[in-house]
Amino acid sequence: MPQIKLETRPDVDLEEGSESKHITKPETKPTRPTIKKVFVKTFGCQMNVYDSERMIESLAPVGFEETKNVAEADVIVLNTCHIREKAAEKVYSELGRIRQVKADRQLEGKSTTVAVAGCVAQAEGEEITRRAPSVDVVVGPQSYHNLPDLIIKAKAESRQIVNIEFPEQDKFDQLAKRQGPRQATAFLTVQEGCDKFCTFCVVPYTRGIEFSRPVSRVVDEAKSMIERGVKELTLLGQNVNAYHGEGLDGADWSLTQLINALSELDGLARIRYTTSHPRDMSDDLIEAHRVNDRLMPYLHLPFQAGADRILAAMNRQHTAEDYLRLVDRIRAARPDIALSTDIIVGFPGETEADFAQTLQIVQTVGYAQAYSFKYSPRPGTPAANMDASIEEEVKSERLQRLQELLVSQQLAFNESSIGRTIPVLFEKPGRNNGQLVGRSPYLQLVHADGPDTEIGKILPVKVATATRNSLTGSIVVAV
Ligand code: SAH
Ligand code: SF4
Ligand code: F3S
Repeated sequence: MPQIKLETRPDVDLEEGSESKHITKPETKPTRPTIKKVFVKTFGCQMNVYDSERMIESLAPVGFEETKNVAEADVIVLNTCHIREKAAEKVYSELGRIRQVKADRQLEGKSTTVAVAGCVAQAEGEEITRRAPSVDVVVGPQSYHNLPDLIIKAKAESRQIVNIEFPEQDKFDQLAKRQGPRQATAFLTVQEGCDKFCTFCVVPYTRGIEFSRPVSRVVDEAKSMIERGVKELTLLGQNVNAYHGEGLDGADWSLTQLINALSELDGLARIRYTTSHPRDMSDDLIEAHRVNDRLMPYLHLPFQAGADRILAAMNRQHTAEDYLRLVDRIRAARPDIALSTDIIVGFPGETEADFAQTLQIVQTVGYAQAYSFKYSPRPGTPAANMDASIEEEVKSERLQRLQELLVSQQLAFNESSIGRTIPVLFEKPGRNNGQLVGRSPYLQLVHADGPDTEIGKILPVKVATATRNSLTGSIVVAV
């Protein structure tokens, strides 16, 4: 998770409760408020990374600043993911460790409030408080703007509180003004929820129906982030290319219109967006990749499976041919675009022949990057009740074959950069002394030697070597 430095000076001590700021005690000298610490651990997707930043920001006005050391945290937040069984189970093993931290702190006379936020909170609600008595607050992804109140209440009333409503009012309107990290790149959530209901997926249940933020709000948030030094924004949404927020003229605007509006902002050099559904990849968005030079040539476009009968059982609403034709159109608009994808192996009923078609799509498209998973049945989703589940060993063996192919493509893609000079946005110091790390337009990680003063700049780098995960080169100095 990106480092976040909170600039806001807290003015209320949580211990005294929210009323305390109204009480004047003329006989005592004003004391500096105690600063409390919050530790946040983030699981899951980029949207959770964004939400974690906003939760930390929302706690600043009630006296909290972030710590990376769980032992000194007065509040511990786990921002969780429910997408696969393993992801959800991680939360409970983490809670086991946290119970110990809480007990150790109690021996020192310190109290600790533990909050579970995110998609497991939404999906499991009170079940969490039953399985893990050390949890004080359970808060869903649509109600985390209430986190400060919930923490205060749980502490004051010494009881477990669960808040997993989908409130009428947009949480973004309730949150404090976005600060955003002081760094060159940042996430900005523009759309949430999903109405696609792929039969394997929990997102429509954990995040709710699709909702797009108004353009004016997104632009305002982008401006405040640019003021803090952000050069590259990644617009986030579970189904970001279905974006249809209220535009500056009152009509619904598409993602392309939003991107074009953001492209007008001085100081914003790069725009990305993720994740896109093939069905919502409109002509104007494809055209934007041809004409808008701030829109980076990288696209995450999950196809999930190669066989049409599996795609139909997944309710993906596209065929393999639809997907391949779409890729052709995108590449016609932007020939150098780097494509990325998500793939599931071992969906119920997947035969060896079906899996061969998944491999075939990968062969045909050629990916710069990809995420592949074994199908994991999720409670409450239609696919969880489907017969013909695939044995674990078969899933593992297919995943291994698929990943071998994907890794070789990723390496080939990176090796094709050797000898080229590419613009790199430097983000932070590297692990080695004097080294910087940045990203190419194709989202490749790039290492080059240079002083820290180059962080936040886009500089040409001549690529010398490539591995599967990164490139190394040297900054080209103008003569
Ligand atoms: N909104 C995005 C991503 C959602 S979750 C999209 O539509 O593509 C990220 C990825 O997790 C999915 O693309 C899918 O490949 C994977 N995934 C979702 N549910 C899963 C499940 N039950 N088992 C295995 N992988 C799953
Ligand atoms: Fe899940 Fe499908 Fe929606 Fe993506 S499009 S979030 S996979 S339901
Ligand atoms: Fe996980 Fe929720 Fe994101 S289930 S992938 S954290 S939307």
